[in-house]
Amino acid sequence: MPIRYARPSAPSDDKRWKIVETRMRRLGDRPYALIEALHAAQEAFGYLDDDALHFVGDTLGVPHSRVYGVATFYSFFTLKPQGEHTCVVCTGTACYINGAKEILAGLERSLGVTPKETTADGKVSLLTARCLGACSLAPAVIVDGDVQGKVRAADLVARLEAM
Ligand code: FES
Repeated sequence: MPIRYARPSAPSDDKRWKIVETRMRRLGDRPYALIEALHAAQEAFGYLDDDALHFVGDTLGVPHSRVYGVATFYSFFTLKPQGEHTCVVCTGTACYINGAKEILAGLERSLGVTPKETTADGKVSLLTARCLGACSLAPAVIVDGDVQGKVRAADLVARLEAM
C-alpha cells in the first residue's frame, strides 16, 4: 500500500486555491494530472507563478523540474500576469445555461476581448473556467480573486470599464 503524505497547504487563503485543490483531488492527486492541474491553476489565477507551480507539483508528487518543464514547454501556459486585472468567466454547464454566453458576448462587444485576451490598454485579461464550484450562483465570474454570482453582463462590463 503506497504511503500517502499530508497534502501540502495552499500558498495563501485565496479562495481560488480551493478550486485548484478540488480539481486535483478529483483527478486523484496523481502525477498524470499535472497538465490538467496546471490548467486549473491558470484558469483560476490567469497565469502560473512560482507558488502555483510548487503547490501543484508538491500536491501531485511531481518534481519541480518536471513541472517547470511542462509549464514552459506548452504555449498555452503563461508564467506572467497579463492584464492589470483578471476576469474569469465560468462556462460550465450551469453558468452557460444561465447567461455565460451573453456575458462573454457583452465583454467582447464592450471591451473588445475574447477569452485568453487582454484589453488593448492592458487593463483586463479575460479567461474562462469550466466550473468555479459556485454553480448555485450561476452565472459566476471571478474578478481579481473575488467570486461573484448571478452576474449580469451589463453590470460586469460597467465594473470592468471602471477599472
Ligand atoms: S458551472 Fe459555473 S460555477 Fe459551476
